[in-house]
Amino acid sequence: MDRYAVFGNPIEHSKSPLIHSLFAKQTHQSIEYGRQQPDDDQFNAAITAFFAQGYTGANVTSPFKLDAFRFADELTPRAKAAEAVNTLYKRPDGTVLGDNTDGEGLVHDLQRLWGSLDGKRILLIGAGGATRGIILPLLTAKVSSIHIANRTASKAHGLAAMFEGEGKVSSSGFDDVPEATFDGIINCTSSSLNGDIPQISVKIFSNAVFAYDMTYKAQQTSFMQWAKKHNAEIEISDGLGMLVGQAAESFYLWRNVRPQIEPVIQTVRAML
Ligand code: ATR
Repeated sequence: MDRYAVFGNPIEHSKSPLIHSLFAKQTHQSIEYGRQQPDDDQFNAAITAFFAQGYTGANVTSPFKLDAFRFADELTPRAKAAEAVNTLYKRPDGTVLGDNTDGEGLVHDLQRLWGSLDGKRILLIGAGGATRGIILPLLTAKVSSIHIANRTASKAHGLAAMFEGEGKVSSSGFDDVPEATFDGIINCTSSSLNGDIPQISVKIFSNAVFAYDMTYKAQQTSFMQWAKKHNAEIEISDGLGMLVGQAAESFYLWRNVRPQIEPVIQTVRAML
């Protein structure tokens, strides 16, 4: 039986073992999936021992995504663009592939909720690792433009510069977001985890069709409530579907079988 695990610190609350066991059941695959919590400076030793013990793959979460990026023998283009790895796969030839499925998980969830992203103008709030990982997958899904707005403007500018030549990507601080119309707004900051909202003008919501928060909670997040308050027509979602979607992409890489995410989202949602 092929064995997998998720690496992170802390890791006890990770939903990945549940999600992957639901995928395995749904697709009639027989796998084992556990949790690994190395000390913050022990990722390399832990992952080396893990693969030496015959494990096939790993998911990687905070704070180890950069360690995993450095550990991989080969990287997918989307992992290179993200400069972070959330999925490791020990291939039959013994080499370890590093992938990043976060962006694809988000794109699939947005398409599931709101259809094609073709031609959509997207505002991304935040300029950390979460934002970096989704830019290339959004451009690949044919969005027409991406504007990155960050509390610290210089970080937004730095990120936009990384994607120069790949598509229409602009940047600003919170105070000078262009008076443009956005079709979709994605909160890539972790502000909702503390019940905060980014200090950005509510004008961003005026003509938007959807607002998506990458974090998730049992109830609507503060960002979702804030969006709805300033545009009653806007459709809102939290990021649980992105979590399940990135897991589905990892499962597909390892097993070559694509699970249905909708029933798994429902099961996990019911347990929040
Ligand atoms: P991650 O890798 O999860 O994206 P990160 O690299 O620490 O985490 O980035 C966090 C992002 O959320 C940053 O863009 C941060 O803004 P700054 O660059 O100005 O620090 C943003 N962020 C976090 N909390 C925020 C808040 N309460 N309001 C606005 N932005 C916030």
